[in-house]
Amino acid sequence: MCLSLSDDLIKIQHKTDEFKYEFLRKYIPLWNSIICGKSRRYRAIVESHAGTGYVTLGNEKKHGSSLIFLEKTALKQEAMDFHFIEINHNNFRELSSSIDKIIKKGFYFAGDTKGKDLIGEIKNGIPIAKEVPKYPPTTRFPDKEHIFLYNENCVKAIKKVLKKVEGRPTFFFIDPCGKLEWELIEFIIMNRLLDENEKVRLDEQGEFFQGTELFINFSWEAISRNKSVKFDEERRNIFFQGMYGMNLNEINIELDNIEKKFKSEQKRYYEFQLYLEIFMNKLRRCFKFVSKLDVLGIKSIKNPVYCLIFCTNNNSAKNLFLSIEAVLNKKKKGYLAMKKVVTNKKEFTMEKYKEIIEGHRLLDDFL
Ligand SMILES: C[S@@+](CC[C@H](N)C(=O)[O-])C[C@H]1O[C@@H](n2cnc3c(N)ncnc32)[C@H](O)[C@@H]1O
Repeated sequence: MCLSLSDDLIKIQHKTDEFKYEFLRKYIPLWNSIICGKSRRYRAIVESHAGTGYVTLGNEKKHGSSLIFLEKTALKQEAMDFHFIEINHNNFRELSSSIDKIIKKGFYFAGDTKGKDLIGEIKNGIPIAKEVPKYPPTTRFPDKEHIFLYNENCVKAIKKVLKKVEGRPTFFFIDPCGKLEWELIEFIIMNRLLDENEKVRLDEQGEFFQGTELFINFSWEAISRNKSVKFDEERRNIFFQGMYGMNLNEINIELDNIEKKFKSEQKRYYEFQLYLEIFMNKLRRCFKFVSKLDVLGIKSIKNPVYCLIFCTNNNSAKNLFLSIEAVLNKKKKGYLAMKKVVTNKKEFTMEKYKEIIEGHRLLDDFL
């Protein structure tokens, strides 16, 4: 849960730092390196709910997402544009000032002489690490010319932003404090992943169109607050129409279908998973890979405040997501150990492993 106070920074919890921000800190430099490649491809990062630039964790002031994006790409920022959208005036002022200061001060990197580094090469769909010389100590200054700020509602600003990032591989971070607007996601999908007949765009190989990654903060807290039957139907309808682009009746039909499906698969589930599945199914229409980042160690598995959803049509991006998730969850060791003993190693993917672990977790819970 985050709080935004007009004269203060956004406050975060430890788990948010450990998973949401740590995921970005690990994913973004690799994504940047892979996309940039040797030809320095034009690319962009779009943040629809940018916040203030900094956040506080207890008494500590830390980089929020927009500064993480700038810092983690600072060593390779050629041909990269940033679009940060923030509706709240005070937060926007704070964000502009944080970015102005960092443009002047720069990011200091202590440097490293030699070591393993990802250099943007991919083998069998997996980013590879090679022994390469790293950088000497250096300070890098983000380039103001490539940072675009919008003090607007993201649903309005996104149309302009989409024009500016047209044809560029783009990472979209959608991080509202509570309810998100389906309209925002719909604009992105319509613009980048559907054709003029609203059919899924296919590339020359007949595959779903690549170059769009979404990382979404999906608030279960907003849903559990607003779905309550103590509110009249009209209010609930407005809420679901806004967050899912579906009315209450459609939501109820989908809830029923998903519940039946889970039951037929003898799957044990919590209520939030039904709502999450409806949302993820909508995204699956135009993304081949849609997954929830597992945040381990949260107080309540039944009632997580939010879930983080990742979507891509690119195999390297998917593999990158899975391997970083495994590291964050300390699952990688378990996966590799189990892979050693299974018979069909090729088919034993990280996704399979996650399913097995999830099954065990629910069984433990049940017993
Ligand atoms: C969770 S905070 C963002 C934190 C930020 N992403 C970070 O990690 O540092 C959500 C922000 O979204 C802003 N916001 C809420 N609704 C918005 C909208 N419709 N358009 C743009 N910004 C919005 C809020 O003012 C708040 O600053």
